[in-house]
Amino acid sequence: MVLINTHYQNLAGSYLFAEIAKRLNAFVRDNPDKKLIRLGIGDVTSPLPPCVIKALRRAVDEQATAEGFRGYGPEQGYAFLREAVLEDAFAGLGLASDEIFISDGAKSDVGNFQEIFHADCAVAITDPVYPVYADSNIMAGRRLIYLPCVSENNFIPELPATRPDLIYLCLPNNPTGTVLTAAQLKLWVDYARAEDCIIFFDAAYEAYIHSPGIPHSIYEIEGARDVAVEFRSYSKMAGFTGLRCGYVVVPKSVQAVSADGAKISVRSLWMRRQSTKFNGCAYIVQRAAQAAHTAEGKRETRELIAGYMANAKVIRQAFEALGLKVFGGIDAPYVWVKLPAGLDSWKFFDALLQGATIAGTPGAGFGPSGEGYFRLTGFGSRADTLEAAERLRQFKI
Ligand code: MLT
Repeated sequence: MVLINTHYQNLAGSYLFAEIAKRLNAFVRDNPDKKLIRLGIGDVTSPLPPCVIKALRRAVDEQATAEGFRGYGPEQGYAFLREAVLEDAFAGLGLASDEIFISDGAKSDVGNFQEIFHADCAVAITDPVYPVYADSNIMAGRRLIYLPCVSENNFIPELPATRPDLIYLCLPNNPTGTVLTAAQLKLWVDYARAEDCIIFFDAAYEAYIHSPGIPHSIYEIEGARDVAVEFRSYSKMAGFTGLRCGYVVVPKSVQAVSADGAKISVRSLWMRRQSTKFNGCAYIVQRAAQAAHTAEGKRETRELIAGYMANAKVIRQAFEALGLKVFGGIDAPYVWVKLPAGLDSWKFFDALLQGATIAGTPGAGFGPSGEGYFRLTGFGSRADTLEAAERLRQFKI
């Protein structure tokens, strides 16, 4: 018999959102007459913006012509998209378009990026957070350092007491909705520079930042270009959860070391990895993503985001009316609720499902410090969100 990668045995039985989907499927099977409102996984519900659809159609038509047909694309992504990204999202930050790598979504990048580092690297993870960071490093057998983020510290992580090699920061945070000011983020950049760490900065929700003075990119912080890679996604920014597109920025100045102490460019390793294991995101999808960076695209995506943020406000108010302490939903599409003392988050998941037919996400699924909290998303349709708020008003905790 062949031995498995035994680190997989250290994972929870299933991925958080797969576990939730399994429970919801069972609920729907057993309750065919009830209307389930899904505010669990952060999946968008509005149609794609019209300019994205137009770009997709145009690109599909190109594929039907001898001149327009495209086979394999560049592994790093087409220059037209990398340049549009650079100009729209990173202008003036000293980056170049060959430091941008287009992918089939931030989940793949965030999950894969760790593999170019040694298995002995220690990894700092804010807790609670998007479960892919912990799971992908557990698969590789790495040691995790959890940085608790709870209401007592305003969900703001403290610098680690022992030095990690890799640091994951998700800002705006999934699930807590926390953002950091430039001064707060600078502490992390300075720490990484002083301690020779690399920051994995997940900015999948940057388009949801509404408060003034909050950095959208870590490269707005001086010195970050030497110590940080940044992940972005079109999923929540332009409704691409089904279409799939994202990118990672890997500045040439980010370096790590080989066993003999030689400095190695992280970008060159990522290029090597991607050109071996990835054949690029579909041409038609990259054309669709490019459309999101046009003036028309930005107007349409702003409207989309405004709709989801209005939903988040409705959910916030409904929980507040229940007398609960509510966080998030201001600079992020997630509403993070503190449950009454002693109430287990999976028990609350079941109670809300059975009592109000609403699916949310138990805080414990995002890490140990998420226990005692619960997450709902603003990504439902307006009608579902209003109905969920009404059901919450009737709900007895
Ligand atoms: C979430 O619900 O946390 C996200 O939708 C998960 C994801 O983006 O993969």
